[in-house]
Amino acid sequence: MIRAFALAVLAGCVSTAMAQSKVAKPEIDKGQAIVIQVCSACHGQDGNSVAPVNPKLAGQFPEYLEKQLANFKANTARKNPVMMGMSANLSADDIRNVSAYFAAQKPKEGSAKNADTTVLGRRIFRGGDVARGLAACASCHGAAGAGIPSQYPRLAGQHADYTEAQLRAFRIGERANDANRIMRMVAEKMSDAEIKAVADYIAGLR
Ligand code: HEC
Ligand code: HEC
Repeated sequence: MIRAFALAVLAGCVSTAMAQSKVAKPEIDKGQAIVIQVCSACHGQDGNSVAPVNPKLAGQFPEYLEKQLANFKANTARKNPVMMGMSANLSADDIRNVSAYFAAQKPKEGSAKNADTTVLGRRIFRGGDVARGLAACASCHGAAGAGIPSQYPRLAGQHADYTEAQLRAFRIGERANDANRIMRMVAEKMSDAEIKAVADYIAGLR
């Protein structure tokens, strides 16, 4: 009798645990279906967008993508009219699924286009500017821009136009979804020329 009761409790625990793990596990094929229908026009079916204003999402950390989609949906700390519309109808499960799908795609390499600014871009990325308290990008985003899961996003190979736009948005505080103002403090110290140089350098990182 007691044994049967214990078994029933045990079975209950196991089925609860299974149900929970089912909720927590993203379903990549469901994410793919949404991407094909809704997101691929701008971000590419494999997350490697062609147009330089649309960020590449392939290989990005899923937690970072989820956070951005939640931020766009809330339309407070990171505002973008297009992405507010795109995220409005996504449920929490949809967000988890599309993020897992994009994270699982292989990022395509990019290339730097301006040889004149490589030295400046590399210097800022790797060393920052100690005299001005400008932290090296590499200290948080990794030596090759691969990012550090899950908080510090991958930057390598991103379109320079997109990276430049984000740095400008952080600089004027239009994008304010960085915890502890971490990126705003970095961008505030940068000149236009430095932003352009580092964005171009990042596009060529692999
Ligand atoms: C009409 C074009 C368009 C469509 C369709 C679109 N996006 Fe976007 N997406 C953009 C643009 C433009 C940005 C950059 C916004 C900005 O400047 O902050 C962006 C940014 C993002 C970002 C932030 C990336 C980063 O590195 O911070 C994520 C995540 C994202 N989109 C996911 C999606 C998902 C998921 C869908 C489909 C449900 C989707 N997008 C559909 C144009 C689009
Ligand atoms: C102290 C850590 C830190 C340093 C140093 C740093 N970053 Fe960041 N960066 C972050 C964090 C954290 C985020 C994610 C913000 C968020 O949650 O949306 C970020 C986001 C970004 C993004 C947005 C990525 C996207 O896909 O939209 C860009 C671009 C970026 N950083 C570029 C740089 C560059 C260039 C430098 C050097 C000049 C730099 N970062 C230095 C921590 C850092």
